[in-house]
Amino acid sequence: MSKAKDSEKQKQVAVKVEALLKKMSLEEKVGQLNQVGGAAFSPGPAAEDQIRKGGAGSVLWLNDTKKFNELQKIAMEESPSGIPLLFALDVIHGYRTIFPVPLAMAASWDPNVPEKTQTIAAKEARAAGLHWTFGPMLDICRDPRWGRIVEGAGEDPYLGSAMAAAQVRGFQGDDLSDSERVLACAKHFAGYGYSDGGRDYDPVYLSEAQLRNIVLPPFKAAADAGVATFMSAYMDLNDVPATGNRWLLRQVLREEWGFDGFLVSDAFAVGNMVIQHHAKDKREAALRGLKAGMNMDMSSYTYTENAAQLVADGALTEAEIDELVRPILTIKFKMGLFEKPYVDETLLEKVIALPEHRTASRWAAQRSMVLLRNEGGLLPLSKDIKKVSVIGPVADSMQATEGSWMVFGHTPAAVTVLEGIRAKLPNAEVTYASGPEIRRDIPSWFESLMAGQERKPEQTPAESESAFQSALEVAKAADQVIMVLGETDVMAGEAASRASLDLPGRQEELLKAVSALGKPVVLVLLNGRPLSINWAAENVPAILEAWEPGTEGGNAVADILFGDANPGGKLPVTFPRKGSHAPLYYARNMTHSPEGSPMYNPRYWDGLPVPLYPFGFGLSYTTFEFSNLKVSAEKIKVGASLTVTVDVTNTGKVAGDEVAQLYIHQQYGTDTRPIRELKGFERITLQPGEKKTVTFSLGANELTYWSSNAGKWIQDPASFDLWAGSDSQASLHAEFEVTS
Ligand code: NOJ
Repeated sequence: MSKAKDSEKQKQVAVKVEALLKKMSLEEKVGQLNQVGGAAFSPGPAAEDQIRKGGAGSVLWLNDTKKFNELQKIAMEESPSGIPLLFALDVIHGYRTIFPVPLAMAASWDPNVPEKTQTIAAKEARAAGLHWTFGPMLDICRDPRWGRIVEGAGEDPYLGSAMAAAQVRGFQGDDLSDSERVLACAKHFAGYGYSDGGRDYDPVYLSEAQLRNIVLPPFKAAADAGVATFMSAYMDLNDVPATGNRWLLRQVLREEWGFDGFLVSDAFAVGNMVIQHHAKDKREAALRGLKAGMNMDMSSYTYTENAAQLVADGALTEAEIDELVRPILTIKFKMGLFEKPYVDETLLEKVIALPEHRTASRWAAQRSMVLLRNEGGLLPLSKDIKKVSVIGPVADSMQATEGSWMVFGHTPAAVTVLEGIRAKLPNAEVTYASGPEIRRDIPSWFESLMAGQERKPEQTPAESESAFQSALEVAKAADQVIMVLGETDVMAGEAASRASLDLPGRQEELLKAVSALGKPVVLVLLNGRPLSINWAAENVPAILEAWEPGTEGGNAVADILFGDANPGGKLPVTFPRKGSHAPLYYARNMTHSPEGSPMYNPRYWDGLPVPLYPFGFGLSYTTFEFSNLKVSAEKIKVGASLTVTVDVTNTGKVAGDEVAQLYIHQQYGTDTRPIRELKGFERITLQPGEKKTVTFSLGANELTYWSSNAGKWIQDPASFDLWAGSDSQASLHAEFEVTS
């Protein structure tokens, strides 16, 4: 839309909003700030009565097209001002067609992947009657013990920002009135990925420099991409619950970034300010939330119970309530919901049947997978192979293939790895054994929401042993073994943190026993977080990190194993050797006792905390060479830009993708800066022998940082190192200087 037309439309919307606000009662205004829980487990008064009274602005946790229309009809025809509802649900990596989990999509290092898949997710969700998804999740996480690492883009703010903007574009498009899109929600604002010890919900302590340089950039990128809504995080950020954190919600988000959409709390989080020992009671919690600028209360009913009284008591003005209601109404008008509140109940079946959705799921999964090891070029395997055994507890699990967030009536429907391999090899004998089961030691209530997760009785030691032995028997009879190990869908995600990063259960024991048979073994990992596969990394010749790859996951794995696709993904997060080494990340600062120095002191005496696989790492079926790293200027002035070029050549025998990565290091300055920081990347495809020159730009955006010492954004005159290559340990080096 042209700028002039857009601003004209905005003016018209503003007029409508003011007219509507004028006729609304205070109770109705407060109702717009209330999000009603629609699912059975949610507390609070019956949704329909709330809506009829004008007491609801939005409904969540409901996934029922017919019911959406029924509730909308009540809102439109029976509530005092006839304001349409927003139906919201967590559509995190697909609605019916499931795509790789966000961590996997980040591993594609290709923003087209999340943009395209979230466009499809939006189209399906909207066809189901939803208006709003609670994604993208933008929490930078450097501690893979934290279960929710699966929902984000990993450890890096630069990569995370690119993925953030891409997801917003995918979900929302560029016009909120597009009836094939949904509102996006940047969450969890902010710092949730930094909980103490990686324990979900635990408090977070971050300096302003960490927040501004590491945690906030993806949120800023989402705001710049026009994200319509933000969700506050659950935990305390520096002793203030994020939901009532005025500095974050008002100063940073509204004043500095100019965000004009609306905020929703995380579930029950406004009321939780009482549990968190911040507010004395729910009345005070409401006051804190409202004063902090938290527009919508997700299902704690703290606003509906207290806001009108707060105004009556003079603790809050009606104008302050209006200020919070305004952006919610504005978005409803912009979406065209007043004119077109209902969904065509026949649409969803047509939309989900579109073949391009499954094609996109397979493509996204292929692009997300990371080849971690391939000794002697074991992969790709030949399709002429006669007897293959597929072994492991997640090899034939639809749930593990689809991954986290398959909740609220979702029916698992993924092609498993076993099925994908069978489809790829119609003439081979493909045998299968699951081996011993894997399960969480301690279940969570969240688990009960996941599709198909009825908790079965635990295997007895005898049953486990018998499953172990039959897996060995199956492996013995094969020419090629494919082990599919990792985690189930409920082992990563919300309330799914763990202290260890080892393969759960007896998986490693089984891997060792199968490897001892002397057959060629390939390991495929299905998991939502880095795992410490130290033994495998040295003893299993080929390892493919397939993550939780989605509906077409099994086909995509088979495509890669048998050479119909060449892996080109790269790790968006460091793989540590132990959970207790976390947080471990590449962008750390130099210390007074660095490795290699004469007075070097090991960080731990019981094992060096060096990565098992570094950030940015991933192999291909071909090889690449980086050369000719050049800067356009050896010196530039503060504020100016330079260009960096590097040649990438495919030196192998097949076509493949490489991700050219650019890292910088400021050698000294007002603050110490990380030894490496990603400041550019591009995924390219090269034919055998082909060479491409990749160009990056470095300027004030890349070289400015929030300084603890100065208490503001600065760009230092300083010397910089530069590296370009295929991962965060790239050695091709150049330098440049920034002068004042
Ligand atoms: C809690 C989770 O933290 C959040 O990510 C999610 O969007 C809401 N519940 C709604 O389901």
